[in-house]
Amino acid sequence: MFSLAKFYITTAIDYVNGNPHLGHAYEKIGADVIARFKRLAGYDTFFLTGTDEHSLNVARQAEAEGLSAKEFCDIMAGSFRDAWDKLNISYDRFIRTTDSDHIATVQDIVRRANERGYIYKGTYSGYYCVSCERFIEQGDLIEGKCPFHPSREPEWLEETNYFFALSKFQEPLLRHIRENPEFIMPVTRRNEVVNRIKEGLQDVSMSRSTLTWGVPFPREIDDNQVVYVWFDALINYLTGAGYVPGTDEFGKWWPASLHYIGKDITWFHCVIWPATLMAAGVPLPETIFGHGFVTFKGAKMSKSEGVVVDPLKVTDSLGADPLRFYLMKVVPHGQDGDFSFEGLAEAYNADLANDLGNLVNRTTAMVEKYFNGKVPPPTGVADSLDEELKALGADVARKAREKMEELDPTSALSELWSLITAANKYIEDSAPWVLAREGKRERLATVMLNLVEAISKGAVMLSPFIPDSSQRIWDVLGLPGKPEDIRWGENLEVASLLPGISVTKTGPLFPRLDMETSDFTAGEFHLAELAQEKKKEGRKRQAGLSENNSADTVKGEADVSDLISIDEFARLDLRVAEVIAAERVAGTDKLVRLEIDLGTERRQIVAGIAQFYAPDELVGKHIVVVANLEPARIRGIESRGMLLAGSTEDRKELAIITVDKPLAKGARVR
Ligand code: MSP
Repeated sequence: MFSLAKFYITTAIDYVNGNPHLGHAYEKIGADVIARFKRLAGYDTFFLTGTDEHSLNVARQAEAEGLSAKEFCDIMAGSFRDAWDKLNISYDRFIRTTDSDHIATVQDIVRRANERGYIYKGTYSGYYCVSCERFIEQGDLIEGKCPFHPSREPEWLEETNYFFALSKFQEPLLRHIRENPEFIMPVTRRNEVVNRIKEGLQDVSMSRSTLTWGVPFPREIDDNQVVYVWFDALINYLTGAGYVPGTDEFGKWWPASLHYIGKDITWFHCVIWPATLMAAGVPLPETIFGHGFVTFKGAKMSKSEGVVVDPLKVTDSLGADPLRFYLMKVVPHGQDGDFSFEGLAEAYNADLANDLGNLVNRTTAMVEKYFNGKVPPPTGVADSLDEELKALGADVARKAREKMEELDPTSALSELWSLITAANKYIEDSAPWVLAREGKRERLATVMLNLVEAISKGAVMLSPFIPDSSQRIWDVLGLPGKPEDIRWGENLEVASLLPGISVTKTGPLFPRLDMETSDFTAGEFHLAELAQEKKKEGRKRQAGLSENNSADTVKGEADVSDLISIDEFARLDLRVAEVIAAERVAGTDKLVRLEIDLGTERRQIVAGIAQFYAPDELVGKHIVVVANLEPARIRGIESRGMLLAGSTEDRKELAIITVDKPLAKGARVR
């Protein structure tokens, strides 16, 4: 599909206002699988990923945490980079939009587009969604809200901006898409984009005058504006390619072979970006692939809208490969796919532990037992079972390669699995234990050699998906170097490496996973927890810590959602207090106003206990109160705290909690 021997792949660059979540991870893993495959297939490959830092959200989050935007970004970019390192993402450059070469590239592209007459000054008035960082046209609002972020009010903007003459590119874009069927993939995305372009293109604002956090507009044009974050961000692909400002050298890697991005941002990539490049006189990228979304329990995973899964927590207990494998299996080509912990455990146990792990274990154990661990040389004694396995191996290598070239790792993986299944069946059908018993040594040697060959081919072809495990298999087989050293071209040749290698018998490659006892589900966060988590992260950042260095992030569970962690409990500040005075609240038969002494301070609280206690009875009692509850106004009276009481479900009986022997006022209850 890609005619060039060079392959330049990019992912979207992530906003850094929150930590990386499973959706971000899915994209980076997908791109990594493709990049690793391309390297195996002999392409000169460059893989770019990174962070998008000049967003309004980032500036606000940093301010809320008392950090400068740059300080905040330095910490957050570190978190993203660490996450991708843990997931074994083999990027060649991690770009940040605050990098100086990027700033120079952005300014140069703005200059070029300006010189060609595609930029003009005007006034923008309209809505802006801070979550998308996008100007929203009136017609796109749904009940006044951004279609992607219904829980966040769009903001009204009115300012003098520079505009980009997008409207001039309707015809050139349609022509380019028509003439280059692989420009936008998959086809569904192409159709969506084409239909929207046909509706007409309006000029778009490309600068902000009310912000200072951003790439400054070229001074000679205007020294009072910053480049709108999306214009800045898209240009990272050129910076990463090695673009040389002020020249027509677009960089060793330009044009990009593939921008691998999510379906929510196809408009920017398939319309704004190529139009910007056309305006600046720069060639267009070859393919933009809009992948689908990972959902969790059917809902979109997003920090601003719902539940997220922290990929690192999953990786902490299982390593990177099971997550990489599962995500590639469960989110099909270009479509959405649902993540579940149960699904992950099932794929791990059935595919990795049973199929692959057992195949390797059984084979190495037999080579050990029958040939003292040394893989025997070929004997020339072959039968139809051997031919079938070999033919299937060649067929799988060809088909899986085709699927990878079509950017369809899910189908490639399923092809590869047919080789693993066939190799397991080959063991059953050729029954090496019977051959051993009957003394058929030559036939036994052939069977072992064929098995080791199938496994080592499998390890090479699986290495883009499960690089660590492939290497472990390679090492267990005693093969030299790395599976990645083998070329996966028209042929995939490993046979010559095998005779005489010494296998090692090891424990299970993938020890079985028990949902009951494993803590791999600890990565689920719910919205309510997110708010707490955010505050906590902020505090940590201020203390100069990255949350990755700390083990105590808020934990949530899939199956035990009613349980809270000890940390969550510890957030309640429960104290002993003495009731100094009490009176009924006028106009209600339920409420009592209490004055309490917490040792260090006196407070007033309002409690709904008037039907159960006369005010006088309460005075002098040593009760327990939640001292760090947000103040509330009840019937116009401020209540600062809440007393604890037990009551029956129907609230016919109620008793307040008191301490059963004298304890200092203000003593902590835990
Ligand atoms: N900063 C912009 C991209 C600029 S690219 C020049 C942005 N950032 S993002 O952090 O919101 O998203 C980064 C990528 O993650 C996007 O490609 C987005 O589609 C992808 N995903 C975010 N959530 C996702 C899922 N739940 N599933 C799969 N990918 C998702 O947009």
